[in-house]
Amino acid sequence: MLPPPPPVRKAVFPVAGLGTRFLPATKAIPKEMLPIVDKPLIQYAVEEAYEAGVREMIFVTGRTKRSIEDHFDTAYELEAELTAARKSDLLALVESIKPADMTCVYVRQAKALGLGHAVGCARTLVGNEPFAVLLADDLMVGRPGILTQMVREFARLGGSVLAVQDVPLEDVRRYGIVSGRSHGERTVALDGIVEKPTPDRAPSRLAVAGRYVLTPGIFDEIASVPRGSGGEIQLTDAIAQLLGRESVYAYRYQGRRYDCGSKLGFLQATVDLAREHPDVGPAFSDWLDTVQPSEVSQ
Ligand code: UTP
Repeated sequence: MLPPPPPVRKAVFPVAGLGTRFLPATKAIPKEMLPIVDKPLIQYAVEEAYEAGVREMIFVTGRTKRSIEDHFDTAYELEAELTAARKSDLLALVESIKPADMTCVYVRQAKALGLGHAVGCARTLVGNEPFAVLLADDLMVGRPGILTQMVREFARLGGSVLAVQDVPLEDVRRYGIVSGRSHGERTVALDGIVEKPTPDRAPSRLAVAGRYVLTPGIFDEIASVPRGSGGEIQLTDAIAQLLGRESVYAYRYQGRRYDCGSKLGFLQATVDLAREHPDVGPAFSDWLDTVQPSEVSQ
């Protein structure tokens, strides 16, 4: 029997995109700092990685990303104020953003040359071990968390695992689309992957969502892959190359996904998570139920 694959200890968060779909909100702050109810998107993703056992968080940042570094840094003044005011609940909340056993490191992507390029910027920090990639603008909700489910699949299969979901045919042009053969209830062994195909060229309707567990073999592929869709270095193209050397799997995750890089997905996430929020949920739901559609649109 083969030995079990090494544990997934590191996660890469590419946060260097331009976020043009959310301008002007993203002119001076990254979209990953936009809050859903009371937490920035990036914190949801970091918490998901921590739940999955990851302890080293690697952020690939670009311009305007200082706020992300500040968010995961100690805020001495704020903590001193909260201590003096005996606001212990709020102090615990602020301190919990970065547990003591979690480390955060930052690497700069000088130019937004694509997701594949962004992941490649983390190569020396990741080294020769498997790692996760989380796109924080895809907010994923599941029990257990989506990355926890994927890390379990990786431990079972030993090859890279991509989170996938079925999408309507008219939406395939927005995603990386995979093809392959069934390899268990929720898993597909990949034989192809293509970035943003037109509906007539899509090999399936199985679309990659923003969660990956990758073997370090991906870095050689990123380094050699030519520019693809949109003139960018695409992670999808590097995975297509990796398929020639290693087994790669797609995993139909159990849970919900909100595309918070789009305004519609962001608003849907806000309403759903506000309804479920322990503090404001009941009152918000009551209010929402009383609002007439015409009032909402006024
Ligand atoms: P998107 O495709 O959503 O691009 O990137 P974007 O530039 O952030 O947003 P729009 O389309 O202009 O509104 C998917 C993820 O990859 C990261 C983004 O930060 C996002 O998390 N990314 C993308 C990088 O880190 N670097 C890049 O060069 C491109």
